[in-house]
Amino acid sequence: MSLYLPESVMCNGERFKVFITREEIDARVSLLGEKLDKDFEGKRPIFIGVLNGSYIFLADIMRNVSIPCEVDFMKLSSYGDAKVSSGEVTELKHIDAKLKDRHVILVEDIIDTGLSMKYMIDKMKAMDPASVSVITLLHKKDATLHDVQIDYVGFEIPTKFVLGYGLDYAQEGRNLAQIYVLEEDN
Ligand code: PRP
Repeated sequence: MSLYLPESVMCNGERFKVFITREEIDARVSLLGEKLDKDFEGKRPIFIGVLNGSYIFLADIMRNVSIPCEVDFMKLSSYGDAKVSSGEVTELKHIDAKLKDRHVILVEDIIDTGLSMKYMIDKMKAMDPASVSVITLLHKKDATLHDVQIDYVGFEIPTKFVLGYGLDYAQEGRNLAQIYVLEEDN
């Protein structure tokens, strides 16, 4: 089955244009997978995906590493159905795995204000892991208010509203195979 790759899409009544293409995502994910293979060789890392947004990026990243590794998930929400952060993180699902002495790789679809990642890093460190690393598909550098550690970045992007490849607008659009930007933001 071929992927649906439109140049523009409507989502909840607003138009979005393609911003990062399928080819660009694939190339970057492949490179990040190679880096992780080297950096975590012999360490059996555990990837912790931050739901919901990270699930597609996480699946692709894991299929691009060849070292033994594990996965678990934590679910947070700070945006609800809005385009701007509520400023508060709500924990909707905690991880099941024991992280003591493990090499943890936190996986996000996007770091915007940095609030969610700051919350995650603090939570992980309290579990006494061997190391905590952070990988994010997207980083809005100019919007980041919190001083957060970021070890691997897919793409640095401007402060624009983006959609697709796991990222939603009022829960819609996560299934899009490319990353789109709100047209009025262009
Ligand atoms: C999004 C995204 C990150 C967070 C980033 O989650 O997946 O977790 O916001 O923003 P921040 O850096 O300002 O904290 P959201 O709350 O929209 O939930 P979702 O993952 O279910 O879409």
